[in-house]
Order: sequence, then structure tokens, then C-alpha cells
Amino acid sequence: MLSYTYEFIYPQYSLKRTKTRRHGGDVLLDNIQQIKKIDSQNMFSVLEKFPEHCEDAIKRTESLILPERFRGPEKIVVLGMGGSAIGGDLFRNWLYDKAEIPVIVSREYILPKFVDKETLVFAISYSGNTEETLSGFLYAVKKSCMIISITSNGRLQDFSRQLGVPTVEIPSGMAPRAAISYLFIPLLIIFEKLGVISNAREEIIDAIELLKRIREEIRLSTPTEENIAKKSAMEIKGTVPLVYGQRYLESVAKRMKCQFNENSKSLSGYDFFPELNHNETVGWEGPEIFTKMFSVILLRDPDEPPELKNRIDITIKLILEKKAKKVHQLTARGSTKLAKMLSLLYIGDFLSVYLAILYGVDPTPVKIITRLKKELEKKIDIVSSIEKEIRELAKK
Ligand code: F6R
Repeated sequence: MLSYTYEFIYPQYSLKRTKTRRHGGDVLLDNIQQIKKIDSQNMFSVLEKFPEHCEDAIKRTESLILPERFRGPEKIVVLGMGGSAIGGDLFRNWLYDKAEIPVIVSREYILPKFVDKETLVFAISYSGNTEETLSGFLYAVKKSCMIISITSNGRLQDFSRQLGVPTVEIPSGMAPRAAISYLFIPLLIIFEKLGVISNAREEIIDAIELLKRIREEIRLSTPTEENIAKKSAMEIKGTVPLVYGQRYLESVAKRMKCQFNENSKSLSGYDFFPELNHNETVGWEGPEIFTKMFSVILLRDPDEPPELKNRIDITIKLILEKKAKKVHQLTARGSTKLAKMLSLLYIGDFLSVYLAILYGVDPTPVKIITRLKKELEKKIDIVSSIEKEIRELAKK
């Protein structure tokens, strides 16, 4: 049978390039000097500061003053794109069994029709200049929503100042996706401030302690033999990784998929149980010429409810083990939902950057996104027209 491999289709990602192994490790992943040359914009050092960034995000949000009328919102919309929207997904999954208010994440120019003055809108854009987010922000202003912005810069900061919109101002100079702590933690703290939930701060502090311990195990200076993120990168190298989560880990699976896209410059996909058993699973019946191009990363929780554990175990045995190139399992750590989510997210972030190194690509630049944004702007300057409307609204 004719057999294509990922290597055949992506020759630049040849498996032969970093094949030399030492004590079961990969020479390249333990060669810090060589890695620093590839990681020219220091993605590793930003990743290593993740726990401290979470601490800083708490402080910055605690000092935010919120109008009294923001207490008791009826609906929540988190508005953002890409790396700025994923915090909304994490928030939605985390809140699922905690709050009695519906939360949706909007990645769009327009907001759903149900938004009104009882809706709390989080407008999140790291750069502050993403046109879809600015357009949604204008929509929310026109609908008299309660709005809170989270940004480091740009028009969103400017518009929020003009209109007196409370803003969590976060440090600039990072890739948006690397600022996940600042784009997610504030949502939890704000919810606690508004009295919608309690104990968020405690849960965050507990998760941060765990993240600090995990950091020791997965950081760049920890050799491959003891480093689960480096080992996992070596496992899935040369395949298209599909990440499968369950329930509250759907957002973490999506985050990992996006990190493979943007950091490792690799195609990737994600899905979640039980839904994937009703569609994606059938795709694995396809010919091995295709299925063997993929690996599966399963995000597991040691406390999985029996109905889910059973489903995942059976899916692995029945089809994944037979048809995927690799089946790789990562287990959540910690005792709270947040700790479990962030532990997997943190391992996934490192894993995607190690994979970038194995492919010899710089994890930080996202040239095609930058180019796309410029090309779009040349054709239709949506932001300038939003700017005019905001100026008019600010005068009222
Ligand atoms: C880049 C990244 C992108 C951006 C997205 C929106 O690191 O992750 O997905 O997050 O293009 O831009 P911002 O976050 O500036 O609104």
C-alpha cells in the first residue's frame, strides 16, 4: 500500500534532523545554547514566568474600581480573538458548575442579539487593535452593556479611556498567547469582586503553587529524561497532533491546538468527549494512509467520572491505538478544577515550544497573522470608522 508520511509532505520537518539521542533524550532539546539561537525572542523565559504573571494579574485586577451597577449581571459575553479569546473559553469551562449565569465567548464582529444593558461584556485584546474585537466593543457600547476591557495598549485602551470603561491594564511586549495569565485570571477575580462567585482567589493561589512545582519538572534546564514536556514533544514529532479533552478540558485542548499552530507552526486539531464519539471517531475508520499521519494527545483527569473514563478507555482500545501513529496521554495534576486545567495548559505550552525547537522554528513570530492583518487593513479600514463612531459617542 502506498504510504505517505508527514515527513514526506513536510520535508522541512524531517525526522532525521534531530535523531541523535543521548540517554534516551534528544541532543537538541538539552542543548540550551542551540535552543536560545532558535528561540530568538525568548518564548521560554516568558513561559517560565507564568506563575509570577498570574500573581501580578491578581494584583492588577484587585485594584480595579467597578461601578455599583455592574453587580448582578444576567448574562456574560467574553469578546476576543485568538490568544485573547482563549481565556474566555477557560473561564466558561471553569464556571460551568459554579455560576448561575450563562457565559458565551464571541469571536466575531457582531454580538449576539440577546445582549442588552444587563449583559456584562469583557472586551479582551492584548494588542488593543484587533478589528473584530473593536467592532464588538462598539456594538456593546451602543447596546449600553456593562463593559470591562482587558488590554495592554492600542485603540481598545484609548476607546476605554474616552468612554470611562473600567480597564485591567496589563504589561505590553509579549506575544498575546504568552500573556494568557493576564487574559484569564482577571475574569475570575472580577467575578469574585462582583460577588458572583466566592473563593476564586484561594483557588488561584493554590494553582500557582502547583504551577511553580510543575515548572521545575518541565523547564528548559530540566533534562529530557526527567522532563515530560520534552519527552512528549519527541513522541509526537512528525505527526499532526489532535488533542482530545473532556468536559471542562475542552478549552485546554483548544489552547493546546492553537499553541501547536502558533508556536510549533504545525497543523493540529482538537475535540472533546463525549461529543467526539458521535462524529470524529468515525473519521478514524478511514485508510491508514491518512490516519497514520496523526497522533492523539488525550487530556486525562485522575478523577474522571466513570461514564467518561469508560468512554475514553474504550475509544483508545477500539480505534485510536490501532489507527493513530501515536496515542499519548497527559494527566492533570492538583486537586481543584483550576489547578487541573492550568497544569495541563502549562505542560502543553512547554510541549508546543519544544516541538517548535525540534522543527527548528522560532516559536514567537506568527508572520502569516501579521501579514493577513496588514493586507486586510489595506482593503477596508474598519478600525478608522469605528474610531469616528467612538469619538462621537464619547462627546455625548
Ligand atoms: C498571537 C496570537 C493571536 C492574537 C490574535 C488577536 O500571539 O496569539 O491569536 O491573539 O490575533 O490579537 P490580540 O490578542 O492582540 O487581540
